[in-house]
Amino acid sequence: MSKIHHSFKEDIIKGLTSFPKSLPSKYIYDKNGDKLFQEIMAMPEYYLTNAEFEILDQHKTRICSEFAKDGDFDLIELGAGDGKKTKILLKELIKNDFEFHYLPIDISQNVLMELKETISKEIPEVDIETKQGTYFNVLTELDEYRHRKKVILFLGSNIGNLLHENAIKFLKAIRNNMHQHDMLFIGFDQKKNPQTILDAYDDKAGITERFNKNLLLRINDTFDANFDLDHFLHWETYNPESGTAMSYLVSKIHQAVEIKKLSMKVEFKAWETIHVEISQKYNEEVINWLADQSGLKVHSSYTDEKSFFKNYIFTKA
Ligand code: AVJ
Repeated sequence: MSKIHHSFKEDIIKGLTSFPKSLPSKYIYDKNGDKLFQEIMAMPEYYLTNAEFEILDQHKTRICSEFAKDGDFDLIELGAGDGKKTKILLKELIKNDFEFHYLPIDISQNVLMELKETISKEIPEVDIETKQGTYFNVLTELDEYRHRKKVILFLGSNIGNLLHENAIKFLKAIRNNMHQHDMLFIGFDQKKNPQTILDAYDDKAGITERFNKNLLLRINDTFDANFDLDHFLHWETYNPESGTAMSYLVSKIHQAVEIKKLSMKVEFKAWETIHVEISQKYNEEVINWLADQSGLKVHSSYTDEKSFFKNYIFTKA
């Protein structure tokens, strides 16, 4: 069994034998899940992508001159994806003849190959080297053999998948791989009208539902299970006080699901839940607190017209 399947297996066993049940959202992203996430980013309800795109486009000149003010650097992107937003920055950096190397890191080799291809077509001047792996491993590796300034990109409010305690652990780990002039450029989705947030995660066309249910499909395919997707409901909640959006798969009936390759039988009571994803929303106080707790400080911040989203440059405190 491959490494990813091994942890997938452990996480399924743990998540489906606990109470309440849960499954980590990172396993949604196989080939089908990657495609559904692309569809999500193109939905009118999913405002995050456009808002961050607008920020990068509006503020690219300032952002890029901050990145390049100390000379040569490595631009390291965690969870690069299709690079649609990053390309705005890459074009701006090239336009200004800034010296940099672009190092996108992603867990999916597929995504990286496509990214490399589109960049060599659209911006051939970019010196790109892709790295497959988890964020942490690669960051540590880089620190051992590179002695250039690092600018780390973590876009899309991907940090929102972590509850504060884990977000702090993650930010601390990044911080511990940073030197004095290094920068972390990171996106945070902001608190806003709760209805806007709910709509972004509960679209009328049902794309988000298919995205979340892809987790069950993947268990069916990988471990020969018999989840019937029609017997589960996609349910989204948003708590405007804590700023936490949560997605669940809810069993509509009392049922037993068999996961053959794991020799498991999982019973669901009617209306029992599987917690799948957290998408945390932020405000300035919380972001300052997270930075402070992680040994980072706010260097500058950038927002869109509606203040839906905010990007920050953090440096070491
Ligand atoms: C990729 C984690 C930022 O939480 O907004 C989109 C994933 N889930 N719609 C998010 C997601 C449902 C997304 N992140």
